[in-house]
Amino acid sequence: MPADAAVPSASPPLPTVPAPTVRARHASVAAERPLVVVEGVTKHFPVSGGGFLGKSEVVHAIDDVSLTVREGEVLGLVGETGSGKSTLARLILRLIRADTGRITFDGQDVLGADNRQLKGLRRQMQIIFQDPFSALDPSMRLGQSIEAPLAQHGIGDRASRQVKVDELLGQVGLDPSYAVRYPSECSGGQLHRVVIARALSLGPRFLACDEPTSSLDASIRAQILNLLIDLRDELGLTLLMISHDLRVVRHISDRVAVMYLGRIVEIGTRDEIFERPLHPYTQKLIAASMPERAGDRHSLVQGEPPSPINPPSGCRFRERCPLAIEACKELPPLEVVRPGHTVACIRWQDAAATW
Ligand SMILES: Nc1ncnc2c1ncn2[C@@H]1O[C@H](COP(=O)(O)OP(=O)(O)O)[C@@H](O)[C@H]1O
Ligand SMILES: [Mg+2]
Repeated sequence: MPADAAVPSASPPLPTVPAPTVRARHASVAAERPLVVVEGVTKHFPVSGGGFLGKSEVVHAIDDVSLTVREGEVLGLVGETGSGKSTLARLILRLIRADTGRITFDGQDVLGADNRQLKGLRRQMQIIFQDPFSALDPSMRLGQSIEAPLAQHGIGDRASRQVKVDELLGQVGLDPSYAVRYPSECSGGQLHRVVIARALSLGPRFLACDEPTSSLDASIRAQILNLLIDLRDELGLTLLMISHDLRVVRHISDRVAVMYLGRIVEIGTRDEIFERPLHPYTQKLIAASMPERAGDRHSLVQGEPPSPINPPSGCRFRERCPLAIEACKELPPLEVVRPGHTVACIRWQDAAATW
């Protein structure tokens, strides 16, 4: 594709990458400046062929979710498959539209953005997915894939974009010679680095990583996570790190949000969540991820999540919860119960006593 032919002569300059500075880990979290703010957002999907007696059915993918991602932090988002994590990320990037609620990025309305505003937002927010093989066009050289967003946004000319591609490859720890390779000539870990380079090409401030390392084996997974942490520190990125792997989230996150069946049930600092989980569901998740807790009462909570088409009223975990009482049929509010720790459980004090 003659991408350079389409570039207007007064094309905007290449995004400048901030000079790498050594940033104290967690320092930016103290600033607590909100970058992404999600308020009361709901997303239901129609069930194809669903419905009974003419009543249409919906999947409650996200129900009344509120969440803030602070500038410079890594926010971990955990929960079983189907709890709504990917839907939430796609809503934030406006790859899909929310039914109700409000989402802002650095104060700018995401849901109400027109096409021009959306183009600006897309430069600042990027997402990477689990499978780098399907994310990259097998017929394109890796350099072309990394360059494509720059060309699409009409940034730089061909020569300056190629310089930028080499710089991006270096940032993700790959030799410039990778630019001429094809995806089939690389390992999964190398392709992951390429996908990250492409996501960084437009100089984003926010990166959502949706199960980014699930397809990798343990040693490569650690390398990619460390790369993401380094990039966060060097570029001042803000990360939303989605994973059902609690060890990954513990390794990388400053704060952690826990989702269950379309709702946030607990949010707190990494240490609060892992050392003092207050929601019985969080306790179950953490216990199940720790070999030393195998067989303890928390890891033994049984059963599958109920259907998101007909979720239980009130607390959605109550049918599986060992502490559930009659009052759990009312929706529990998300309450700040300790410094840096918010939970939606009326029995959090009893739950805390069991941990
Ligand atoms: N496009 C869609 N159409 C219908 N249902 C969907 C769609 N996307 C997600 N869902 C449903 O929404 C719920 C949440 O899904 P998802 O956000 O992918 O969860 P997670 O990422 O936590 O596994 C699931 O029940 C899923 O089946
Ligand atoms: Mg998902």
